[in-house]
Amino acid sequence: MTARIARFREVFGWGALWMAPVLTAGACAPLPGQEVPYVQTPHHVVDAMLRLAAVGKDDVVYDLGSGDGRVVIAAARDFGARGVGIEIDPRLVAESIRWAARARVAERVRFAQGDLFQTDLSPATVVTLYLTREVNARLRPKLLRELRPGARIVSHRFDMDDWPPERELRVEGEASEHVVYLWVAPGRRLAAQSVQLDEATIRAEVEKIRQPGMMNVPRVDGEFLHDLVAGRGYRRGLEIGTSNGYSAVWMALGLRKTGGRLITLEIDAHRADLAAENFKRLGLEPYVELRRGDALTLIPTIEGPFDFVFIDAWKEDYPKYFELVFPKVRSGGAILAHNVLSHAPALRAFVEMLQTHPQLETHIDRRSPAGISVSIKK
Ligand SMILES: C[S@@+](CC[C@H](N)C(=O)[O-])C[C@H]1O[C@@H](n2cnc3c(N)ncnc32)[C@H](O)[C@@H]1O
Repeated sequence: MTARIARFREVFGWGALWMAPVLTAGACAPLPGQEVPYVQTPHHVVDAMLRLAAVGKDDVVYDLGSGDGRVVIAAARDFGARGVGIEIDPRLVAESIRWAARARVAERVRFAQGDLFQTDLSPATVVTLYLTREVNARLRPKLLRELRPGARIVSHRFDMDDWPPERELRVEGEASEHVVYLWVAPGRRLAAQSVQLDEATIRAEVEKIRQPGMMNVPRVDGEFLHDLVAGRGYRRGLEIGTSNGYSAVWMALGLRKTGGRLITLEIDAHRADLAAENFKRLGLEPYVELRRGDALTLIPTIEGPFDFVFIDAWKEDYPKYFELVFPKVRSGGAILAHNVLSHAPALRAFVEMLQTHPQLETHIDRRSPAGISVSIKK
């Protein structure tokens, strides 16, 4: 079954296949200027690619060789991003524009007919590719030159020659397995060095973040958060109370492995500045997004679902944070609260609520004297 027939079936169903020869007549002829065959990425692989790049609403996704526009449309429709599709074939550009209107994302996407090698990629925070290995290799210097530090590049099927990917994902397909690769643009200067920091270096460097007055979690708790994120494959996280970013670094290190991203909230401007610097220095910016302000007003503006939430801000506000985040945590996700042992008197009623909540399974992790409650949502 060709890719075109597969897609026709997806859109119109098998019953309409008798019309296929009429509707697809000429569609498989070689297209002018194309050095890449037109084969579509199945929708579930598109979804896996966008998840691997941890696409979110602040992203600008460029799909180079955008075909019928499905990647850009999915990025806008399912992840709230903005997107640009570059496609050499004008018929496919016109088709993409029609699909975008039907998906009601026309105002957040743009499709342009043109040569991807002549397109300015500097506005992109994510670039998606399904080209060939050879075209990827030719594109690589342009990606490195134009993309901002931390921009993610995701390629379906084809790697980048001797540029090793950060992650490689295998996705089941109807006929065969699909391989998806992720790279993070090293960009210029500082980030160029830091993005390449290996895990051992980050684990050593993270202790330099710890400072008196920053109320950082003990190292064992940081390691616990990392293990939980990486071990459970969590990808969408929220932290309430960043301080200067110590615990966020541990979670970001886990999310670097799962292809996920943490949103972390901090009300204090000075501590937030320090956190931003720390994330940058350790090359973890692609995996952690700092939002400044009061969590109580920020949380209602953040869309779920989350795989996990780590609460580590003012103890008297824990019940309020919980009320706000509970509906945004998916079933199987975790709500974690720090200091439930060290601040037992202040948090007694809160912990009792967690332990008796009909939709939660709660236990207390006691590896540090601070104590972390871990509540898994049923
Ligand atoms: C215990 S510290 C967090 C430590 C951090 N998790 C770590 O391990 O490095 C608590 C932080 O929560 C912040 N905070 C308190 N209330 C907040 C709120 N309503 N919204 C956002 N941040 C808040 C404080 O400014 C403080 O930096």
